[in-house]
Amino acid sequence: MATPTGNVMDKIVALCKRRGFIFQSSEIYGGINGFWDYGPLGVELKRNIKDAWWHDMVHHNPLGPDGQEFSMVGLDAAIIMHPQVWKVSGHFDLFADKMQTCRQCKKLFRADHVPEILQESDWTRALAEALSGEPAGLVTYDAAAIQKWVTGKGKKQAPGLAAVRNPQAVLGRLAEEMSSRPCQSLDMPTLLQYLAADPAAPGGLQLPCPNCGGDLTEPRDFNLMFETYTGALQTDENKAFLRPETAQGIFVNFKNVLDSCRVKIPFGIAQIGKSFRNEITPRNFTFRSREFEQMEIEFFCHPSESNKWYEYWRDTRLRWYTNLGLRSEKLRLREHDKDELSHYSCGTSDIEYAFPFLNEGDFGELEGVAHRGDFDLRSHMEGKLVSKDGKLVVDTNADGKPRWKGSGKDLTYFDDERKERFVPHVIEPSAGADRGTLAFICEAYTVDESRPSPELMKFHPRLAPIKAAVFPLVNKDGLPEIAEPVYRAIRERWPAQYDAKASIGKRYARMDEAGTPYCFTIDGQTKEDGTVTVRDRDTGAQERIDKSRVIEYLEEKLRR
Ligand code: GAP
Repeated sequence: MATPTGNVMDKIVALCKRRGFIFQSSEIYGGINGFWDYGPLGVELKRNIKDAWWHDMVHHNPLGPDGQEFSMVGLDAAIIMHPQVWKVSGHFDLFADKMQTCRQCKKLFRADHVPEILQESDWTRALAEALSGEPAGLVTYDAAAIQKWVTGKGKKQAPGLAAVRNPQAVLGRLAEEMSSRPCQSLDMPTLLQYLAADPAAPGGLQLPCPNCGGDLTEPRDFNLMFETYTGALQTDENKAFLRPETAQGIFVNFKNVLDSCRVKIPFGIAQIGKSFRNEITPRNFTFRSREFEQMEIEFFCHPSESNKWYEYWRDTRLRWYTNLGLRSEKLRLREHDKDELSHYSCGTSDIEYAFPFLNEGDFGELEGVAHRGDFDLRSHMEGKLVSKDGKLVVDTNADGKPRWKGSGKDLTYFDDERKERFVPHVIEPSAGADRGTLAFICEAYTVDESRPSPELMKFHPRLAPIKAAVFPLVNKDGLPEIAEPVYRAIRERWPAQYDAKASIGKRYARMDEAGTPYCFTIDGQTKEDGTVTVRDRDTGAQERIDKSRVIEYLEEKLRR
């Protein structure tokens, strides 16, 4: 396994801060983990992504699998909903990750993230280096080097590690284990497990705390929903939750939409909005945040047509990303194995992107497209459902009563043409606006060593925060008088910038870093023949066009 291209990610994070794409939230107070703020360029980029999604999915949704038109309507539901919503949906009982706590430094870790975080931790890197190996790879057992590290640098770097606290017992056991092995190389995770286990203490081998090397507790469930209270009293009755997904707002409004709009099945309800998850280990820049935005569609269809619509949405959503510039070799569609599926899902595909913070060959989820069957609408009618003998049935207590009661409202649909009443099936393409933004940022980030300032952002023109810049070559000789009206005309239609300072090379470089696709320069020749130069961000190529054609030129280039 190759090491993560960490330095690329560091450069992207640095550019995002330097140019005002993304800042750490509350940075002047030391920041708050898992929360991010979008700066002046970032907010434009993210808005463009959300607008492109709304435009392409809601206002101008594509034709269906058989070339038919279908309705797609929007919704903006409240973030705080009736707490029963989350009990019936299963989030209250099941929306949990396994968490481990360090007995020494008290830090919390998501159990399945521990191996990955260990690979990245400074002390495991230092230890691997002392053994001339890699934190994720094989190392040669060198008793003297280990002894030197645990009694030297390890004391400062990993004070909680059993081998640092009790070197004699821990290293003695390791030596014994190694003496019975034919081969003297072992992988780092195995070595770490031995260094973390004090033979005198109870418990078997397990990985140490990535922070201090200490002992981790057994994994235990941790519900990811943020809790709050409505009203003045902080009682159990007033307890509410910040929504962990926007989807439930759509399900509970299914009947409202049906009764208020003339929509017929098949149709979709789309929503963009904030969701909150108290992630145990938020990490990888904005990839796993505690506050993020989702762009979700719940598409309602007849059960007999649900597989066709599932395939349609899977392919449509993948195409959306490639059309906006995510290269196909970095993007993939991954069908979940049967044992990976949620209890309600008949099929799920993830659209994944090879983010640069991942190991080579690894992909991270950008969007999930799930076939949710009739699980959601039935849950909100009947009560929380569980799967029993392959069927969804109401989850009951020992007294036979529903564990969590549904609304009792009729959420079935009567199909006039089929003369049939049924519970619609749901296909859910669920995208993250922040993960999407991060993927478009990573994809756009380019280093072109042939340029004096090599870093540039090759955003698709539809997504670029600034569409054009206008420069008078010099800030005198009547050039600003020509440049300013050109700029104002562009500004009426698109976000644009005017810059009359610094050398022309520096001005181009600033715009390249911001991802501005076109720069117009007004120079001496403009005074003679009325032409301006237009420079293409990606190729650096320049051509001259008449200044009266600037708007037409941009219209053509920025066409969707
Ligand atoms: N309604 C289904 C649902 O919420 P999900 O796979 O949990 O499914 C959908 O989330 C998308 O939301 C993910 O593909 C991802 O893009 C985004 N997302 C989920 N958790 C996130 C987090 N902690 N930080 C940023 N984005 C997240």
